[in-house]
Amino acid sequence: MNNFIFYSPTKFIFGKDSEKKVASLAREYGATRVLLLYGGKSALQSGLLARVKRYFEEAKLDYIELGGVEPNPGDDKVYEGIEKVRDYGIDFIVAMGGGSVIDTAKAIAAGAVYDGDFWDFYCGKAEMKQALPLGTILTIAASGSEGSSSTVITKKSTMEKRGSGGDIVRPVFSILNPMLTMTLPKEQTFYGVMDMMSHILERYFSYTEDVDLTSGLCESVLASIIMNARIVLENPRDYGARANLMWAGTMAHSGILGVGRKQDWGSHSLGHELSSFYGTAHGATLAVVFPAWMRYALEHNEDITSLVELAINVWDVPFEPEDIKNTALSGIKSFLSYLKELNLPITLEEIGGKEDDIKELTDKVILRGNYIKLTREIVREIFELSLEKNRLI
Ligand code: NZQ
Ligand code: ZN
Repeated sequence: MNNFIFYSPTKFIFGKDSEKKVASLAREYGATRVLLLYGGKSALQSGLLARVKRYFEEAKLDYIELGGVEPNPGDDKVYEGIEKVRDYGIDFIVAMGGGSVIDTAKAIAAGAVYDGDFWDFYCGKAEMKQALPLGTILTIAASGSEGSSSTVITKKSTMEKRGSGGDIVRPVFSILNPMLTMTLPKEQTFYGVMDMMSHILERYFSYTEDVDLTSGLCESVLASIIMNARIVLENPRDYGARANLMWAGTMAHSGILGVGRKQDWGSHSLGHELSSFYGTAHGATLAVVFPAWMRYALEHNEDITSLVELAINVWDVPFEPEDIKNTALSGIKSFLSYLKELNLPITLEEIGGKEDDIKELTDKVILRGNYIKLTREIVREIFELSLEKNRLI
């Protein structure tokens, strides 16, 4: 096990009606004037926006609102938010929504107290050292941004989707009410499921030795997600299953499942390129990328222990001592059929991709990874594997 520091200062307030505490929590963290940030229509349609505004009014806490954050959020809303914060003397941000809204809030929080262009944080020119405090009301179990130090924004002029972050932008509180996720369209629920699974897999695939505690935790959270997503598929209003998924999404990305082990994160790099190129939802891009990435690892990695253990411990595949490669392959097949069960796309073709796009996609990917150290050539091969189902199995 490698040395590590684990830091997760966010206060989580979980359960039915927990959003009622938003104004008192914001005040507890020093808010005197709040920016209330949200996405498109869902917060209006569900009545959440109106209720939250009422909570602020009842608490006599000043706020201004800014809506319209889009999925795969762009830099334009960040600039707009920074201007509002400066114009109105905002000292606290409440992000109400999913990863897109929370990531935009983080960018505004750091950008508003920075002299230069906020994009400096995303292109590697500057580090986030100061930020306004922010809290969240989560409405979709997916990104884990409610408990993470990271933020992902797209620069619209170049369509670069880039990540940044720092402990300074970890939310001071996050309100998690599973009831708020009941209005999610089916496909968004399962994009979220794929995203949280991938946050675990990015940590799980590792060569670091003596990390059986975190490997076991990863497997157990994955098994819980697999089971509860099936329940939600049958009955979208099952509170218990929604509650387990919501907490799993937070756990998956709080950092606790990755401590002491070298992590990968190559699949997220590949997925971000698909989001910028095709405008595809983050979770859907990961459903396309991960099976192909695993298939590549199976064919090229000398040590396939993580693939074999995943197959046996999560997918209940019988161990074949005389053919461990086949054990791992059976695990990949089980994963693929599970993704299809959740109606997720599993090939580039299904999200509108063509063989001709692969060169441009490959050239733009940020090369990362440890379990597979991405090179341009490897990226191209993984995208080629992801083209059609018969290349995967
Ligand atoms: O905009 P509205 O109308 O609110 O609709 C949203 C949006 O269309 C809808 N939605 C959210 N809650 C809802 C709801 N619809 C009905 N009822 C509800 N309760 O869902 C759609 C997707 O929302 P979004 O915030 O984009 O989803 P998600 O949470 O999956 O966030 C994705 C973004 O997070 C980034 C991704 O790259 C992507 O840009 N990520 C952020 C991470 C982080 N900061 O730690 C890590 C992740 O790996 C990820 O990269
Ligand atoms: Zn993700």
